[in-house]
Amino acid sequence: MKVLVATDKPFAKVAVDGIRKEIEAAGYELVLLEKYGEKAKLLEAVKDANAVIIRSDIIDAEVLDAAKELKIVVRAGAGYDNVELEAATAHNVCVMNTPGQNSNAVAELAFGLMVMAVRNMYNGTSGMELMGKKLGIHAYGNVGRNVARIAKGFGMEIYAFDAFCPKEVIEKDGVKAVGSAEELYSTCDVVSLHIPATVETKNSINYALVNKMPKGALLVNTARKEVINEAELIQLMEERADLKYMTDIMPAAHETFAAKFAGRYFSTPKKMGAQTAEANINAGIAAAKQIVGFLKDGCEKFRVNKK
Ligand code: 3PG
Repeated sequence: MKVLVATDKPFAKVAVDGIRKEIEAAGYELVLLEKYGEKAKLLEAVKDANAVIIRSDIIDAEVLDAAKELKIVVRAGAGYDNVELEAATAHNVCVMNTPGQNSNAVAELAFGLMVMAVRNMYNGTSGMELMGKKLGIHAYGNVGRNVARIAKGFGMEIYAFDAFCPKEVIEKDGVKAVGSAEELYSTCDVVSLHIPATVETKNSINYALVNKMPKGALLVNTARKEVINEAELIQLMEERADLKYMTDIMPAAHETFAAKFAGRYFSTPKKMGAQTAEANINAGIAAAKQIVGFLKDGCEKFRVNKK
């Protein structure tokens, strides 16, 4: 059995070593395709792969067509919007993610971005503190929970909205559950986004919603760039000089954001929320174990596509 690790944004070496150990202990072969850049290289590499581990790498119908021997794709991470699930089902390929394995890393980066924003991008002028500020967590999944845990240490007042998470689950963590996104945005000084990119959420963070935030508000996005209605956010930030936007997923309109909103907009050059050795080890090794469990015992825990 051939297991391909196809990561345009590579894992830390220590994580690759851990993945290799799991795969070889099961008697399988590990093939590494890193920083491949062009899709053609991925199409070539998947030809004889029985299993693939990916990150944000795109697995679409063309890749699935080329992967004649493929049985399973594991997205080492949470969001699987980069995999065409219906096409995978049509090709009889099981798709899994590794929920929770990289969430702390993403949550820590959200705070890195928050501190940078409230300290005026570290330009030396007098900034503000997070203590006592109202933090809104938009979606209370694995990352949202870690954000809440860290926010307690900062002494923030914590609110969350999640259409799919029961109020009691949120409130058990000492977080105030609000009834709508609108209420979250109108209540909180800082909103941290943790929603997936779905048909419903794409472009949903728009002018009307963000405009509900109080004066001096900060929006932090370590989720997906697609959830932001960029044209509307640009318009709003033009009208409201008090708003700040921080992200680790470079907007399509990055040049415009950077030119117009210097000092209150920042994006890392590459998506890097989950880019820590710990997150790479956790998610990568979980992916390897899930592949072995699937190929040896047919275990489909964490399957995300229909059969
Ligand atoms: C995820 O969905 O797990 C995160 O967004 C991390 O993505 P990455 O593996 O591309 O860094």
